Amino acid sequence: MKNPELKTNKFRVSAPSNIAFVKYWGKEGRQLPLNPSVSMTLSHCKTMTSFEYSTKAAAFNLDQTLFEGKFEKAFHTRLHKYFLSLYDLCPELSQLDLSIASENTFPHSAGIASSASAYGAIGTGLTHILNKIKILDHSFEQTASFFARLGSGSASRSIEGPFVRWGRDQSNYGSNEFAQKVEDIHASFEGMQDCILLVDTNEKSVSSSLGHSLMNEHFYRSGRIAQAHCNFLEILNAMKSGDFLKFGAILESEALSLHGLMMSSNPSYMLLKANSVKIIEEVIRFRNESSVPLYFTIDAGPNIHLIYPNSSKQKVEEFIESELKTFCYNGQYILDQAGSGVTVHE
Ligand code: PMV
Repeated sequence: MKNPELKTNKFRVSAPSNIAFVKYWGKEGRQLPLNPSVSMTLSHCKTMTSFEYSTKAAAFNLDQTLFEGKFEKAFHTRLHKYFLSLYDLCPELSQLDLSIASENTFPHSAGIASSASAYGAIGTGLTHILNKIKILDHSFEQTASFFARLGSGSASRSIEGPFVRWGRDQSNYGSNEFAQKVEDIHASFEGMQDCILLVDTNEKSVSSSLGHSLMNEHFYRSGRIAQAHCNFLEILNAMKSGDFLKFGAILESEALSLHGLMMSSNPSYMLLKANSVKIIEEVIRFRNESSVPLYFTIDAGPNIHLIYPNSSKQKVEEFIESELKTFCYNGQYILDQAGSGVTVHE
């Protein structure tokens, strides 16, 4: 039952997006990954979500939802469905009267997956409310990551930073239920940069839930799972020892594997554009000629993420301006860097 005057509690969550180094592709059960993944949490590409709530409602009510200041039916329906899906895990929802308003710091049309930051914020908000009314079974971060995961798998990796792992590895370490921060990282990875080159700003032509489902019957399914397990352990070793050569080789192979899997699925998808390929060629040429440790990765879309250490920032950004900008839609790119995860403002 709607009872807005009861909603006296307010807070805001800011949650970043993340970029996967080893990709999560394929899921089973209740949004559990087929393979472990590792990512870098971003700093500037964020969702800011305001919550107003009461925990004394007669029944669950998702009252007002605003996206970029406007009511959007699709956003409201998706969130409503998400909260209803959590009822068995979170009986406290039946007393919650909630309003949500969400905004991204990056343009919606930028073609950047916003579900990681959006559900990172929602999972954190729900955890913040639960934390006020009961003792959580797990840490705040694990609980927020768990709820974020149920909205969007990759969102589980947006709670902490700068580097995060999600999924059980071959030695049975880690969890499929929630992500956790990677502690043992070489100092040269501090302040790692991510420049997102916007090749095409249209909506993705394949949704990630369709993409994950393509792995169910994929001929390369078992090979992909084995490859991801191996890349996962190797990239963590490279990040621990500061081995950029090994790190970069795995990073790029993971991006191309993800697209190779999409190109070889049934039906098949080609998400890269001619300019995505031109950028990749230019990055490889620049790296070979300059020895600057500049590497690329790609999400499920045509935009290219450039990953490079803070120490190479100036050289890489000159290269972007002089050689790569021309391949971007309207010359657009976003400069971001490793960040530390969600913040709650009361
Ligand atoms: O969280 P989802 O369901 O949108 O899946 C994201 C999948 C990739 O972005 C392609 C890879 C990843 O690990 O983030």
